[in-house]
Amino acid sequence: MFLSNSLRYHLRNRVINLGCWPGLIKEYQSWLPVSDETPIITLKEGGTPLIPAPNIEEYIGRGVTIYLKFDGLNPTGSFKDRGMTMAISKAKEIGSRAIICASTGNTSASAAAYACRAGMKAFVLIPDGYVAQGKLAQALLYGAEILSIQGNFDEALRIVRKTAESYPVTLVNSLNPYRLQGQKTAAFEVIEALGKAPDWLCIPMGNAGNISAYWMGFKEYYKAGYANSTPRMMGFQSSGSAPLVIGATVENPNTIATAIRIGRPVNRDKAIKVKKDSNGIFSTVTDKEIIKAYQILASREGVFCEPASAVSVAGLLKYRNEIPDCAVIVCVLTGHGLKDPSCAIGNNTATFHTGIKPDIKSITKLMGL
Ligand code: F0G
Repeated sequence: MFLSNSLRYHLRNRVINLGCWPGLIKEYQSWLPVSDETPIITLKEGGTPLIPAPNIEEYIGRGVTIYLKFDGLNPTGSFKDRGMTMAISKAKEIGSRAIICASTGNTSASAAAYACRAGMKAFVLIPDGYVAQGKLAQALLYGAEILSIQGNFDEALRIVRKTAESYPVTLVNSLNPYRLQGQKTAAFEVIEALGKAPDWLCIPMGNAGNISAYWMGFKEYYKAGYANSTPRMMGFQSSGSAPLVIGATVENPNTIATAIRIGRPVNRDKAIKVKKDSNGIFSTVTDKEIIKAYQILASREGVFCEPASAVSVAGLLKYRNEIPDCAVIVCVLTGHGLKDPSCAIGNNTATFHTGIKPDIKSITKLMGL
């Protein structure tokens, strides 16, 4: 059957609108290391929107176009689901009965959900006291076995790597190559939605798996002729936790963006190559700048992401004077704002009247009516 490109595009969108999105493995099967024998463990992840950011655009001016790739709209509220559908499906394919990961929170939530879906046991190691409440709540409810260690993420990762080497548990951190394969599909979606590659991709970096995965996706579509350029990869870290910017391990990383509180990124070498190959920039933003971007996103654009995600927009704002006129920029929002409710409650400028008498007079007085 012959379909024009525009009709094919129209039909594809209709399928998505009708709620029949098959999940990213089925959608991008030919681009992924899966076969007919792979059991597909999916919660219909992927297919997330590219949301315009008109107020940030107006602030920057000069004809610049800004989009937010809101991966917080995945089934467990973060981009991790893209990688986890692949990692867990491949683990299931080889008959694995248990998985393990270290996590600052989102990986543990995602691993727990997909493992439960696959009938597998999930062990998650997290840094005691540094995982946002929403993420912890998820891992608990999805039924993971949670091991909270008196140490940071880097120490947890060292332990799970060693454990997976010697015991029958599959590691599902981003060292697992299937994770990045799944995550690269976000770049495919960006190119499909824009009809081309953006000029810049702004993205937060922790372990630097996601920036590496995006770059892989952009390069693959470029080589296939689906885009005639690749973006500059603009990676940002919090200044208290910036090993990739300073070029050295950070022993005691610290930032309000607990998701990226990582001092020894395992994908360091890959990330350095991405920066070089894409003519990218790695830079820091302060916690203050992160919170500012977090508040702007919610109060000006109506998009509530977690603090680590706002790092991409904080970085964009920091580099606003270097944006070429009329550039098209995508900022990746990696996780949903509801992941970290205490950050929102502790960092807002809302008018919040409490203890009001339950009568119309008191209410309308406060409303200024
Ligand atoms: N944004 C969010 C919301 C994250 O949870 C993470 C990583 C990143 C960005 C950074 O991505 O590591 O690929 O550079 N979270 C991991 C976790 C470490 O355990 O959930 P990266």
